[in-house]
Amino acid sequence: MQNFDFYNPTRIAFGEGKLAELATLVPAQARVLILLGGESARKNGTLAEVRAVLGERQVFEFSGIEPNPSYETMMRAVEEVKKNRIDFLLAVGGGSVIDGTKFVAAAARYEGEPIEILHTFGRKIAQTLPLGVVLTLPATGSEMNNGAVVTIKAQGAKLPFFSPLLFPVFSILDPVKTNTLPQRQLANGVVDSFIHIVEQYLTFPAGGHVQDRLAEGLLLTLIEQGPTAVEGFDYSARANLMWTATLALNGLIGAGVPQDWSTHVLGHELTAKYNIDHARTLAAVLPANLLVRREAKRAKLLQYAERVWGIRDGDQEQRIDAAIERTRAFFESLGLPTRLSAYGVDADGIAAILAQLEAHGMTAIGERKDIDLSLSQKILEQAL
Ligand code: NZQ
Ligand code: ZN
Repeated sequence: MQNFDFYNPTRIAFGEGKLAELATLVPAQARVLILLGGESARKNGTLAEVRAVLGERQVFEFSGIEPNPSYETMMRAVEEVKKNRIDFLLAVGGGSVIDGTKFVAAAARYEGEPIEILHTFGRKIAQTLPLGVVLTLPATGSEMNNGAVVTIKAQGAKLPFFSPLLFPVFSILDPVKTNTLPQRQLANGVVDSFIHIVEQYLTFPAGGHVQDRLAEGLLLTLIEQGPTAVEGFDYSARANLMWTATLALNGLIGAGVPQDWSTHVLGHELTAKYNIDHARTLAAVLPANLLVRREAKRAKLLQYAERVWGIRDGDQEQRIDAAIERTRAFFESLGLPTRLSAYGVDADGIAAILAQLEAHGMTAIGERKDIDLSLSQKILEQAL
């Protein structure tokens, strides 16, 4: 096992009715800015409930954070924070609202131009505003981690940033709050969290036996509970999806083991150029990525085949092919196409994606940092 530091200060309040705890989780004297996406939280009553629980506090609202939040939108929220002397941010939504709120938390206290936060991956963040979360979409894990992804629209660049100061102070995870989610978003959530686990598990053996078993348990839970969670409102399935998605990316399973993240790097470029849902880019890239890099991932692919999909018959090549096919079929069964061509990306589009990767310095990625532009090209061509 590799050496590691594990730090995660986010308090989780999990379960039906837990929203009431906002009353004590948000400081009594706080001047609160509630940050929202489009209309969902207003329409389904979550916003009204939040406002009621916050009681007498000074509460302001910023709505209109788009899926794949933009720097341009979030800078308008930063102005609101300054104008209204906000000292507590409350994100009510999914990954986009939480990520956008993390940007505001850093930008409002940033010395220098906030756009630099994105160009330096958050390295120079020295202070932040505290933020809390009411999660409405289980998918990204942003509710219990210190990372976020924001798009600079003017540059067509979707860039991640991180800081130990960006963990939410608390996150409220009430599975009932997912009951108005469209099936498409639920399916996206299952696939995004599945691939978060794969990015940290399907690399090369590093003696992280406990991490492997945790990752396999989470993958098996998604395979078992995911379809029920997507199909309709089933409290138990939604609770399991919600907690799995959080555990998939809160630092636990990735501590002490190699991590890949190349599927995400390619996926972010595809979203920036084609505006494809985050999880859908991943569903198309992952099977291709595993096929192209089967040698480098051989040992873990065989372990994944056996322990996650129960594949024991056939020679090594057959078992690896079968595991990749089962993965593809799982995503397809949830309604996510696994070919880029299904999203309108053709061979001509690949050159543009490669140019973006180069512009963003993404020329040595993956668990061995050996994915250069020519290997990225192979993966994208395989994904067509
Ligand atoms: O905007 P509203 O009207 O609220 O509707 C949203 C949005 O259209 C809707 N929605 C959310 N909760 C709902 C609901 N609709 C009905 N009922 C509810 N309870 O769902 C739509 C999608 O929301 P979004 O927040 O964009 O989805 P998701 O949670 O999948 O977040 C995706 C973003 O997170 C980033 C992605 O790149 C993408 O920008 N990621 C963040 C990560 C992180 N911080 O660790 C890791 C991930 O890999 C990912 O990159
Ligand atoms: Zn993701």
